[in-house]
Amino acid sequence: VKKIAVLTSGGDSQGMNAAVRAVVRSGLYHGLEVFAVQRGYAGLINDDIREMDLRSVGDIIQRGGTILQTARCKEFLTPEGQQLGAENLRKRGIDGLVVIGGDGSYQGANKLNKLGIKTMGLPGTIDNDIPFTDFTIGFDTAVSIVVDAINKIRDTMSSHERSSVVEVMGRHCGDIALYSGLASGAETILVPEVPYDLDEIANRMSENFKMGKRHSIIIVAEGVGKGEDIAAEITKRNGIEPRVTVLGHIQRGGTPTHNDRILASNLGDFAVRKLLEGVSGKACGIIKGELTVTDIDLVVNSKKQFNMELYELAKRLSQ
Ligand code: F6P
Repeated sequence: VKKIAVLTSGGDSQGMNAAVRAVVRSGLYHGLEVFAVQRGYAGLINDDIREMDLRSVGDIIQRGGTILQTARCKEFLTPEGQQLGAENLRKRGIDGLVVIGGDGSYQGANKLNKLGIKTMGLPGTIDNDIPFTDFTIGFDTAVSIVVDAINKIRDTMSSHERSSVVEVMGRHCGDIALYSGLASGAETILVPEVPYDLDEIANRMSENFKMGKRHSIIIVAEGVGKGEDIAAEITKRNGIEPRVTVLGHIQRGGTPTHNDRILASNLGDFAVRKLLEGVSGKACGIIKGELTVTDIDLVVNSKKQFNMELYELAKRLSQ
């Protein structure tokens, strides 16, 4: 490859900018011409592509969001949209592409790879729902935001001896709930991967208050349902009225943690080096501290394994 492009797609995540910076600077370091596509696959179809230099990615490593912007693009789901996107790259002589995004973005990357564009995927999503990587770019920051919010909620809940339901993002994946729940000492963590019993939860909550607990925190992953509904079900069972906080999009913004910046820097550079080795059609990840590549085809057809050990640990420690 001589010319590569980079784009961000799907929901943004903190650390995407650090990944863009790494792809651009690593590409330039290795003598490539590097281009950026604005607004994800929508920009690929609309030919919104510009050449990047070292300065184009200055002062962005610490910023949330993505300077390349992002979109969820329906047109790119069609074969015509994919052909047009590939054509817009080809006419500039761009033969390599790094796609930073989640599951849907990988599907697009897979299609482009099949059309002859050498494509690499980087896992950029707060949800941590991509298989074949232990962590995705943005997850660490999102969890930190949730933990920080729960610290604050805890203060006021203890003062009033109240219980609280905190609804967190994650789409169909319970990882944000699991990791933030363990890190913040939540009494209950509800995730879509594990069945739960509201009677048991309501009873335990009443017992805990009787035993002198001063607050009770239930984290609800959005994949389970609405925090409001869970709170109403608890009130029905034990008469306690938990206060509900929906953290929403604050989980997706703000400055990335150093972990996300380092992960993004490593993966961005790794993707470029792999393209230079002639590798393509792969998703990059980190497994037990090692940078890895896996066929995108396999990644998009697999499901992330839920960490039951961590879930059981959180349960044991929350009594
Ligand atoms: O995939 C990231 C994510 O923030 C999910 O956690 C959430 O379900 C979804 O995106 C929200 O999407 P939107 O920003 O389009 O409302």
